[in-house]
Amino acid sequence: MLTRQVYSLSRRAYCSASINLGNDIQNTKPYAEMPTLSFFKMVKENLPGGKYYKKSIKEITKMFYDEYGDTIRIPPMLGKPEVVITYNAENFEKVFRVEGTWPVRLGIDSLTYYRETKRPEIYKDLGSLFASNGEKWSYMRTIANPILMQPKTVKKYTTQIDEIAKEFIEVMKKIRNDKSEMPGDFSNYINTWSLESVTAVGLERRLNLFDENTKDENAEKLIKGIRNFFEMTAEYDGKASIWKYYQTKGFKELLNVYDTLTDIIMHYIDQAIKEMNENDSSNDAEDSILRKLLRVDKRVAVIVVSDLMLAGVDTTASATLNTLYCLAKNPEKQEILRQEVINILPDKNSKLTPEKARNMPYLRAVVKESFRLFPVVLGNVRMTTKDIVISGYQVPANTHVAMQPVFDLTSEKLFPNGTQFLPERWLREQTEGCPRAGATNPFTFLPFGFGARSCVGKRIAELELETLVANIIRNFKIEWHYPDMKVKSTFVNIPDSEMRFKIIDV
Ligand code: HEM
Repeated sequence: MLTRQVYSLSRRAYCSASINLGNDIQNTKPYAEMPTLSFFKMVKENLPGGKYYKKSIKEITKMFYDEYGDTIRIPPMLGKPEVVITYNAENFEKVFRVEGTWPVRLGIDSLTYYRETKRPEIYKDLGSLFASNGEKWSYMRTIANPILMQPKTVKKYTTQIDEIAKEFIEVMKKIRNDKSEMPGDFSNYINTWSLESVTAVGLERRLNLFDENTKDENAEKLIKGIRNFFEMTAEYDGKASIWKYYQTKGFKELLNVYDTLTDIIMHYIDQAIKEMNENDSSNDAEDSILRKLLRVDKRVAVIVVSDLMLAGVDTTASATLNTLYCLAKNPEKQEILRQEVINILPDKNSKLTPEKARNMPYLRAVVKESFRLFPVVLGNVRMTTKDIVISGYQVPANTHVAMQPVFDLTSEKLFPNGTQFLPERWLREQTEGCPRAGATNPFTFLPFGFGARSCVGKRIAELELETLVANIIRNFKIEWHYPDMKVKSTFVNIPDSEMRFKIIDV
């Protein structure tokens, strides 16, 4: 059995001590001199015929970098505040170090607008984990942390998440074609698995999405709603949009998406309350996540569960597809992982337990390396609370800074052999001839964000992702026989190719 440990850059980021905030402003340039995209140019280039027109966030990012360098100022426009974008990881630490006690992340304004104006009976005086800032966010996060971030609580779901993964293995056997390949829309199947898993955890409910005959009546609406949410908010919140002045038909459709999702979640929560009343265990220690939330307040439960569904389905699905893709493209690494998994699950039907799940360092390293090569989110955003200096420019307090490590994650300087898939770089024990990730600035690689505002669903995501990947690798060799996978950027990076993995029984 492998007993190697996995290197944690994010843990090092938390612990790193001496920081130079760059407050010595001698030899620095004023904020006004930072390369800036003018309002006029931004509008012109976003119109038909302009170079940003219909381009993805990722494509626009590359254009900015090539034209303006590693730090650029985007002026305020159409109700959006001014934002500094930086692609240089050295700046990230300076920004995170001045994020304050209630870190401010640019919210999803359309969601806040919907919640405050369309459904005040649920949301008005309460915030959201995902979309609020300040005291309202802090109140929700204080409730959510001990429930969602507790390893003990999340571990309780291992058996159920493992059962769902094993059911998904049967789905994969059923849907393979005569060449033993997955169908072109395999991403949708993975999305379905992700939703099944997250609702089992957050709503304490199996939707039976793998079985056409018994699947929940709201399944399609939920899957479509969550996908629309990501695509539409990338359009209405990620880019300049006029909705704060005029609500287009498309924007009204987004409000309908929010309505549908809220209604479905309310419906399940009402059912859970009914079941809870019929069968009240009155034992907080043994309670599920939903029951713990309901004990606080029904509206809190609706908000937290909605946030989990919005934030947790497509992200985990993308991360899983990326990991499988990396393994399919690197069969020798896949074989190392398989040996580790066989040690833990000697039989294909062996059940995963929390103890066994802890003992798969190579799997952890595989997932990390996949995150590095295929980041699920483009980066992190924070508002500064003090004056700082980044890339030699003075940046005043209260500036929103978007930190995007896209170019650094594969740079030779930060990650030697940066374009290669080398999970070994994350293992504590050095593998001969393999570069270590540990030497890199820990702020370069923060796939789940940083500090008090970091991903509240990290443990749930890791449990789901690792359990499914372990089960797939235990059952099949996976191969890739097509051109390289393309990625589409919405708020999350989603695979944009037909994911026709070939699977061979082992
Ligand atoms: C591989 C999958 C996932 C990735 C890569 C991911 C990544 C992230 C990132 C980068 C943030 C922002 C952190 C920051 O600003 O510092 C975030 C926030 C969040 N995530 Fe995740 N996430 C994943 C899965 C999940 C899951 C499964 C859930 C829920 C079950 C979830 C719930 C949330 C919530 C509610 C927030 C907002 C937290 C706050 O602002 O207080 N995420 N996630």
